Amino acid sequence: MPTRVFTGLKPTGRLQLGNHLGAVRPLLDLAAAPAADVLVCVADLHALTVDHDPARLRALTRELATTLLACGLDPSARLFVQSSVPAHTELAYLLECTATHGEMTRMVQFKEKSSGSDSIRLSLLTYPALMAADILAHDAEVVPVGEDQRQHLELTTTLARRFNARYGETFVVPRATTPPATARLKDLRDPGAKMGKTGSDGSGVVFLLDDPDTIVAKVRRAVTDAEPALIYDSAERPGVANIAALLGALTGREPAAALDGLPGSGALKRAVIDALVATLDPVRRRYAELAAEPTEVDRVLAAGRDAVAPPAAATVARAREAMGLLRVG
Ligand code: AMP
Ligand code: TRP
Repeated sequence: MPTRVFTGLKPTGRLQLGNHLGAVRPLLDLAAAPAADVLVCVADLHALTVDHDPARLRALTRELATTLLACGLDPSARLFVQSSVPAHTELAYLLECTATHGEMTRMVQFKEKSSGSDSIRLSLLTYPALMAADILAHDAEVVPVGEDQRQHLELTTTLARRFNARYGETFVVPRATTPPATARLKDLRDPGAKMGKTGSDGSGVVFLLDDPDTIVAKVRRAVTDAEPALIYDSAERPGVANIAALLGALTGREPAAALDGLPGSGALKRAVIDALVATLDPVRRRYAELAAEPTEVDRVLAAGRDAVAPPAAATVARAREAMGLLRVG
């Protein structure tokens, strides 16, 4: 039986390098295996959990789908928009009836995003139930994600097991997979913080569609330190360690090995610039070609939706019956 691989990405901003190395590349590596069966969703409903602008959300949803294809996701993989498959929201409610309020309030991401704000959307709290529904509706077995999503994945596993124990075998129990060195890529200007689509001024964030000049400018301004020799030490030298992890991931080496032979941070930055431009320039060019034909991307999204919606509806029907909802007619 092929292994079912599933992941989701929120269209809250342009895809950045952390998304690429934490989730997209591991997904593409898994997709390259002969027995892989891949589903990817643009998690637009998750983007509604924080303040949003409708026109921007619509544009970012199409941009994210196009960027994934430009990164090499095969159009035959089922790529779809979360809100186009009703099973997600339907199952989310059933899982809200499986989870507890305490489990939701304990989520680190909820605590981080809600602290200091007196008016958060209720959906920010219930978000992990929707994410669990995304995964369980599609019988996912392996879910490639960055470190920040591991806790949500653990909750998904807990809810699947609890549901199966209470109501009978209904869901496949999934497992997360995170890359060894780049599960939490840091901001180039602030190596204490995660690189993210939103939240910083963007000067330390490399976006996948950045042109070479922008990449050069951002890497040149990356924070390193005053030590002349390059040594990999993530606790004492976080700036250098982050760039080493980045270079290693781009060139297929361990972070410490990526520093071998480099005399200092100037040489390290040049090596990273070369590796980044070599990786991202083809993505940017392919993106431009695909963006010129938006109907083709729409066709991929419609085909993805049509392929995944019926089996997902069947999984939700199983869950409804198991919970005791009367099947009428
Ligand atoms: P999001 O942008 O929050 O929708 O994240 C999409 C995927 O990218 C998730 O699997 C995240 O864990 C992953 N991700 C986001 N930022 C980073 C980062 N800085 N390092 C590693 N993975 C990341
Ligand atoms: N919540 C994830 C994030 O913020 C995105 C996501 C939504 C996801 N649904 C998913 C990831 C299902 C993996 C599986 O990054």
